[in-house]
This record gives sequence, C-alpha cells and structure tokens, in this order.
Amino acid sequence: MCKYVIEGAHRLYGSAEIHGAKNSALPILAASIVCKGMNVIHNCPELSDIDATVNILRHLGCTVRRENDTVTVDSSVITQNGIPDDLMREMRSSVIFLGAILSRTGEVTLSTPGGCEIGLRPIDIHLDGIEKLGAEVLSEYGLVKCRTNGRLHGTKINLSFPSVGATENIMIAAATADGVTVITNAAREPEISDLADFLNRGGARIAGAGESTIVIEGVRELTGAEHTVIPDRIVAASYLAAAACTGGSVELSNVIPAHLEPVLNVFEESGCRVDVNGRKLVLNAPNRLKNVKMIRTMPYPGFPTDIQAPVASMLTLARGTSLIVETIFESRYKYIGELVRFGAKINVDGRMAVIEGVPSLHGASVVSPDLRGGMALIIAGLAAEGTTVVEDDGHIDRGYEFPERVLSKLNAKIKRTDQDD
Ligand code: UD1
Repeated sequence: MCKYVIEGAHRLYGSAEIHGAKNSALPILAASIVCKGMNVIHNCPELSDIDATVNILRHLGCTVRRENDTVTVDSSVITQNGIPDDLMREMRSSVIFLGAILSRTGEVTLSTPGGCEIGLRPIDIHLDGIEKLGAEVLSEYGLVKCRTNGRLHGTKINLSFPSVGATENIMIAAATADGVTVITNAAREPEISDLADFLNRGGARIAGAGESTIVIEGVRELTGAEHTVIPDRIVAASYLAAAACTGGSVELSNVIPAHLEPVLNVFEESGCRVDVNGRKLVLNAPNRLKNVKMIRTMPYPGFPTDIQAPVASMLTLARGTSLIVETIFESRYKYIGELVRFGAKINVDGRMAVIEGVPSLHGASVVSPDLRGGMALIIAGLAAEGTTVVEDDGHIDRGYEFPERVLSKLNAKIKRTDQDD
C-alpha cells in the first residue's frame, strides 16, 4: 500500500517522455515462449504487471534478464506447461500465456482468471478460438486445460466480439499451426500490430494485423527476435488529461500520435490546442475547459475504455455538462464515488455517466479502486485546491512507471510515501 500526497492547483508545464506500452509488452513477453531462443525486447516499462510476467516466464523455464528498459528472454528450454494459481492471480492478463504454452508444448493448464475490479472478464472467445484451432479444451472448477495431438490446425475464426486478448492468443497459437488461419472481426488495437511485428521478426507470416481480418500462414518453428515495444498511448493520454485540467501546457515525446487520434479529438473539443510534431505531442490547455458532448468507449479506433476515467476526471472541471457511455466493461465507474469527494458533480446511471462541470475541486482523501481509476484520482488531486491523499494498493504501479517522478518533472507537487511512513 502506498500514498500519493498532492498539493493541487499547480499548472503543469514542461516535457516528459512516454514509456513503452504495457499492453504490448505483456503479450510480446508471452509470445517469446513460441519464439524459441534468445528474444531481446526494448522499451519494456518497469511495471508490476511486467514483473509478474517475468516471474511466469521464469517458472516456465526461461532465463530472463532486465537491463534498463531491455528485457531478454531465452526460451530455448521450456520445462513447465502450467502456471500455478498464485502466479496467475498476480496478473489477470496471464491468460495471454494460453496459446503460447499450448502451441509450444502441446498442453497447458491454467486457473481461470475470474472477475476483477472492472468487470467479469470471461475468456469464452479465447477458448472458442483455441478449440477451433483443433485443441481439446476442458474448462471446469476454475481450471482450463487444453491439449493438442501434434500441431494445431489453421482455420477460419470469426470472433463474436473484437476481443484484444483473444485476438492475441489466437494469433500466437496460430503462428506455428499447420496451414492458414483467418481471424475475422479481429481487434484492431495498435498493440495487436506490435505483437504481429514481433512474431514476424521471429519468422511468423502474419498479414493484416491492425485490420479486422488477420491472415496467419502457419510456419513450423519461430526463432528468437529483437523488437522495440511501441509507446504507451494510455499513459500519454493520462498525462495530457492531467495537464489539460490544470490549464497546463506540456510536450510529450516518444508517442505515436496516430494511435491517439480518437483521444486527441476529445481534447480539441474541450478547447485544448494539440500540435503534432513527428513523435512529439504538444498540448496547450485553456484556463477553463469546455464540456465534451458525448464520449462512447469503443474498440479501436474508437475512444479507449482505458482512457475513460482520466478524461472523466478532467471533465469534472469543464464548463457545461459532458456525457460518457462505457460500452466495454461493466464496472468501470468505481472511481466516481471517490471523485465526488473532491466536489465533482457526476451522476451514474448504468453505463452512462453525466458530468456537470464545476469551477473548482477541493482536495480529498480517497482510495484508488483500480489502475485507471487510480490515475483519475491523481489527476483530480493535481487540479484541486489544497491537499489530496490517494491511497493505492498497487493498482497504479501496474500501468504507470514512477508517475510521481514524471508528474513532478511537469511541475506537479506530488510525493509518494509508503503507508507505514
Ligand atoms: C485489453 C487490455 C485492457 C483494455 C481492453 C479493451 C491488455 C493487457 N489489456 O484487455 O487494458 O481495457 O483490452 O481495450 O491488453 N470478453 C468476453 N469474452 C472473452 C474476452 C473478452 O466476453 O473471451 C469481453 C470482456 O468482458 C470485455 C470485452 O470483451 O467486456 C473486451 O475485452 P478484451 O478486448 O478481451 O480486453 P482484454 O484483452 O482483457
């Protein structure tokens, strides 16, 4: 447990560099299981979810080393085909190992992830795809067991929803299947293309990643690969939201602006000026933001669900009323009860949140409910008059690398302390 103590109402300005994307690094690290040999992955962020993934890779028999932001995974020898429950529980996304372990060893046993802070998070689309590739799938009593006799078989797989994790799992499993796999209604997130680039560097033949139809021509074996993870678009958008609601002006480097397009439109609608210069973004916010008529979270290239909470926090201070509809996860408004403690005026009705902007927030003592909700509370604290204390039980460390250092560099008055201090 840690606490972020924030003296708010200081305008953010200056520049910051954005770290590698957690949601790319996690599946790429898992995919190193099928890229047999030495994998060198650059721009890997220092996050607790990455540490949990490294622990799983080591348990499976890999030799893993980290030097600064480069992680090397030697997957020449795999000694296990199961992940113990305690390692699975450290990170919900560990289901991403399913396709990799199955296709490398012919068998895999995992405990099912179950629900988490933001929703139920079923894995039926993952299992359906793996079954279509020819695996025997048994899911009961909280355990999933998959087995295949020889190689998996390429086939057509239409996803009932463009699930990011299921697209990744199927892509990894199909890379060394016998024959061609065609995924339709695939997720189109930039992290899917990044994973495909990594697999292709290891010898895979994947075309169409980033589009709705992905074609994977299975190859016999993949080898170790070297790859640089794309920048984290969620982290970039979070710091833009922090700057925007303090009337700030910041430059973010190491971003791919095209990945942020659906989000930048919202910042512009709220009255910010956004300038793009290669891999840099400059945001200049007005003294007071305008409302945004309607934000509906959608699969990419729609507005990302992961940026819903940081942007909602920013809009609590806008002039006028903003509307948000969360369509992806069912429990993604837990942070709103805490935002109200700052004096924010928000009503939630099912999947809809109505935010009536107020001229100012006041500092509060709040508890972070989940990763992005936790960042939303930090953002509110940065904008609020007086002192804010955000208590966090490890959620924020899952997705933001040293946020107190980045924000301090941007003129925020924020300190992180351990709970016992
Ligand atoms: C990934 C991201 C997460 C992001 C989400 C949506 C990672 C590590 N995490 O999560 O940050 O919020 O994409 O952009 O990349 N669903 C099913 N059955 C399934 C799979 C998913 O019903 O088998 C549902 C989910 O409950 C959810 C929706 O589909 O309602 C989207 O989930 P999905 O795209 O799979 O998200 P994740 O891959 O878990």
